[in-house]
Amino acid sequence: MVVKTYSRDETLLLGERLGFLLVAGDVLCLTGELGAGKTVFAKGVGRGLGVRDVVTSPTFTLINEYQGRLPFYHIDAYRLTGEADMAGLGYEEYFYGSGVTLVEWAGRVAAALPEDRLDITFEVTLEMDDVREIKFFPRGERFRRLVEELRKVVRAGN
Ligand SMILES: Nc1ncnc2c1ncn2[C@@H]1O[C@H](COP(=O)(O)OP(=O)(O)O)[C@@H](O)[C@H]1O
Ligand SMILES: [Mg+2]
Repeated sequence: MVVKTYSRDETLLLGERLGFLLVAGDVLCLTGELGAGKTVFAKGVGRGLGVRDVVTSPTFTLINEYQGRLPFYHIDAYRLTGEADMAGLGYEEYFYGSGVTLVEWAGRVAAALPEDRLDITFEVTLEMDDVREIKFFPRGERFRRLVEELRKVVRAGN
């Protein structure tokens, strides 16, 4: 599924809509260049999960943990160098735990990611400054269903 957003707020709303649909154990893997909108989307996911704290970029802390209707683990792998670092974070506890995990710069830790997950790519388009192309690639049955649910919500515009 491909969604184009035309503003920060639209990306935030898309993240929130996805956040509403998430269940324990869901893993979201975000890739895209700096400034593409990954953290904006993550803020939306936090909202959809009912996190009241402001979700901020964990670039320096590597991981931020929040509590909404589920635990929300927000990882930024920008400074990680691969599987070894990811293991140091105790990533299995996150991926296979009772919360939702979102990884920015997931490509940096590709080998450590679970097989079943939702990959989401963010691209800055050439047409206008504030346009982003956001693509969803579900891996596994749970995430195929999730993307179908999201597609319906996006189509209905609610
Ligand atoms: N359609 C859009 N979606 C998301 N962010 C947008 C959009 N248009 C402009 N922006 C701006 O782009 C920047 C995205 O930043 P951020 O989410 O931190 O990127 P990343 O985490 O991918 O490095 C923000 O300054 C935001 O205001
Ligand atoms: Mg970011």
